[in-house]
Amino acid sequence: MKHLLQIADLGADGIDEVLRVADTFAEVNRRAIPKVQALRGKTVVSLFFEDSTRTRLSFETAARRLGADVLTFAAGSSSVKKGESLRDTVQTIDALGADAFVVRHASSGVPHQVSTWTEGSVVNAGDGWHEHPTQALLDAYTIRERLGGFAGRRIAIVGDIRHSRVARSNVAAFSALGAEVTLVAPPTLMPPSTEGWPAELSHNLEAVLPKMDVVYLLRVQRERATEALFPSLREYTAHFGLTAARAAMLPAGALIMHPGPMNRGVEIAADVADAENAVITQQVANGLSVRMAVLYLLLGSGVDLAA
Ligand code: NCD
Repeated sequence: MKHLLQIADLGADGIDEVLRVADTFAEVNRRAIPKVQALRGKTVVSLFFEDSTRTRLSFETAARRLGADVLTFAAGSSSVKKGESLRDTVQTIDALGADAFVVRHASSGVPHQVSTWTEGSVVNAGDGWHEHPTQALLDAYTIRERLGGFAGRRIAIVGDIRHSRVARSNVAAFSALGAEVTLVAPPTLMPPSTEGWPAELSHNLEAVLPKMDVVYLLRVQRERATEALFPSLREYTAHFGLTAARAAMLPAGALIMHPGPMNRGVEIAADVADAENAVITQQVANGLSVRMAVLYLLLGSGVDLAA
């Protein structure tokens, strides 16, 4: 595999392979010195044109734990401010000797464009409304860890599906692994067309919850909504927020997930986010092992992990 731009690049077998390799790195991460040298001499660039806390830190930590050098690019303090184009920016960094670019951008398709301008590998760390494949992989890892597998599992993805790259990647990954996915949102937050999405649709969260093994809440993306898509946040929460009363409708053992950053009190009640069956911080922790696996598979094949 040269690039990871979308879940379809992997297929079910590729996802399984990432999750298996991530198990190895989870073991490394439990060691007193959680570090291997699999990517020694490689340079990983994090190229973020959009704000991020967990994804950027997670990728950079993953690269360091594999022994790679990390270059951090932040658009706000770069020559992009002086009008340098995306292509010139990428080629400048490429000239410094980058082996991989981890790219986040507000426009869909930018990671693909970057892959045409460099010999290095490109990982999509979130592009517009399109995809966020490593989020889906770490979510799949977390579900497999907690529930054992995907066959016959029912997963509801709830909220701002329309603007969500996480929803697009997660539907692709969960359905490829054999789960039944239901999208739950008001009509205005559903994608313009859900044709071809391997998922059921519902506008009624309370009707769906009692049947689910996992409920996955999405952030209400106020920065992406260009028009008023629902009357008010209070109205949204009244119908689609996971309150404590609604969380109690889930079967025993069902998981509550969220990619972060959360709007506590909007899509998820504060106490529900901290409940025992909420695995939100576990998702973040697993993200590190999963991103180590992705970088290793892209850049380190052939390197013996025991060395
Ligand atoms: C998501 C993102 O930026 O796509 N966050 C993340 O990477 N964990 C989801 C979001 O912003 O709502």
